[in-house]
Amino acid sequence: MPRFFASKKPAQRILPQHIGIIMDGNGRWAKKRGLPRKAGHSKGAETFRTITQYCQDIGIKYLTVYAFSTENWKRPQDEVNAIMDLLRDYLHNAFSHKDDNIRSIFIGDRQPLDEDIRDLMAQAEEGSRDATGLTVNVALNYGGRQEIVQAAQKLARQVKEGNISPEDIDEERFASALYTAGQPDPDLIIRPSGEYRISNFLLWQCAYAEFVIMDTLWPDFTSKHLDEAIEIYNGRNRRFGGI
Ligand code: FPP
Repeated sequence: MPRFFASKKPAQRILPQHIGIIMDGNGRWAKKRGLPRKAGHSKGAETFRTITQYCQDIGIKYLTVYAFSTENWKRPQDEVNAIMDLLRDYLHNAFSHKDDNIRSIFIGDRQPLDEDIRDLMAQAEEGSRDATGLTVNVALNYGGRQEIVQAAQKLARQVKEGNISPEDIDEERFASALYTAGQPDPDLIIRPSGEYRISNFLLWQCAYAEFVIMDTLWPDFTSKHLDEAIEIYNGRNRRFGGI
């Protein structure tokens, strides 16, 4: 069911249940200031924390952020290291999320990540398992195609083991083999920094999402921009293939 803004927001606005954000523009933000790219990622990580808290405050149930794609390994090693270090910081602080009632989930292929990061991810997930507020999916070494392929492999193994037949595979079962199993699809996907691309983000789940592209670079993104995106979302006429 749609949710409504609390008292300080204009009445009657429908809150998306699940928001996806492609956190783009960190590099350009740094370049504009003559700073190294990692300074942009650092400011982007701050923005991520602010927006997560804001989503929790206004009652969003799911937020998925694209932090590192399967293609981002192609970047210079020191930039990759800087992003991984920011992630370590986030993971160390994620424990305090227990008090915030925020659940952390990591989506993507963990295998190539450093062992200390994988351990911290598991601890953050375990420690926030019972949170009932916002669920934050951090997409890390994530690619939509890779997610679909691993789901197909998982289901193929179940068929091979004789647990299901090929005919048992319908959309619902397929969705339950994705990293986002059990979660509603995103209603709204926001891409700051003005690019009109999906970049391999939530390919299955975005089937009926509303896209909002904003010119602001991610490090400059504020709760006001999120409100604006929600307002644009409210102006859309969602028909899900109907009339
Ligand atoms: C895209 O901007 C951004 C990334 C590839 C990294 C995003 C990472 C963070 C915001 C920080 C770490 C995250 C967490 C969860 C702590 P870009 O570098 O492609 O920007 P550009 O297009 O301007 O070059």
